[in-house]
Amino acid sequence: MRVGILTAGGDCPGLNAVIRAAARRLMTHGHQPIGLRRGYRGLAEHDWVELDQRSVSGILHLGGTIIGTSNYNPFREEQGVEKVLSQQTQDPLDAVIAIGGEHTMMITRRVQEELGIPVVGVPKTIDNDVTHTDYTFGFDTAVQIATDAIDRLHTTAQSHDRVMILEVMGRNTGWIAVYAGIAGGADAILIPELELTVEEIAAAIARRHERGKDFSIIVVAEGAQLAFEAGDRQLVRASEEVDQYGYPRLGGIGAALAIELEQRTGYETRVTSLGHVQRGGTPTATDRLLATRYGAHAADLVMAGETGRMVALKGAEMTSVELSEVEGIKTIDLRYLELAKTFFG
Ligand code: F6P
Repeated sequence: MRVGILTAGGDCPGLNAVIRAAARRLMTHGHQPIGLRRGYRGLAEHDWVELDQRSVSGILHLGGTIIGTSNYNPFREEQGVEKVLSQQTQDPLDAVIAIGGEHTMMITRRVQEELGIPVVGVPKTIDNDVTHTDYTFGFDTAVQIATDAIDRLHTTAQSHDRVMILEVMGRNTGWIAVYAGIAGGADAILIPELELTVEEIAAAIARRHERGKDFSIIVVAEGAQLAFEAGDRQLVRASEEVDQYGYPRLGGIGAALAIELEQRTGYETRVTSLGHVQRGGTPTATDRLLATRYGAHAADLVMAGETGRMVALKGAEMTSVELSEVEGIKTIDLRYLELAKTFFG
């Protein structure tokens, strides 16, 4: 079999580990893995490279993706579908393994259903918001980076009696914020899934000071709203632009919150926004292992002819679900936030 492998959407630590595992598994069984460059663009434009032992060697620990990524969607680009079909006629692939987020999974399902190319999806995102899988690779690395940042912010917070706000990514979910917040010992966590008003946070900071704690660490997810007791609420955006999927570009809630808290509490409040640092660099051991399991399982599904599916982690088991079931976003289990609240204020 000739099996295309592509990475689509934003980069994420562990992509190379998936590519390596899928390619090695396919090669072990006598099949030819092919790296499609820049996501579905590589499939449409026949921009691809045969992968061999050498090309997937030494990449396990590397961030980013050796085959590049893009948001190219053949169903939206002019002539996209025609280009894919024409490539399939001239130089057909037997299957495609598509590594991406929720939107890539939707495109991938259509590639099999409407264009007749057998596909297997592998869920990736630091946001951990893909449904039907417990964890996506990249998430653990992002949580570790955010936790390290909280540890470092503690030093300045304590030394200067400051309120330190850490803004993390996560788009419309608070997975990174809650996990890193618990691991780093945050004194308040703001997420999109549950509203916490500026007044409530200010009161929690005041309570800490009354108890003799002169500093506070607050973690805020980029998609959380700035909410006030009076009922006003606002989604803070980095710009008016929307991305190719129609999502607003998020960012800036940390700075907006800092102004409000400083006014209400009188304590010096500073902001750190981690941004793309959370997506860059070396994946953690946990993510390398998870990505390797995802990649090998994807290759196994292709070889077994079980396509139209997305690899999924359920508990400790690697399994798969129909791509048609993968819809919407997976929000955080609020019991984690309840746990975090034990340590607030
Ligand atoms: O989905 C991953 C993610 O890093 C989100 O957490 C964030 O909102 C978004 O991508 C940023 O996307 P971009 O790199 O396109 O600005």
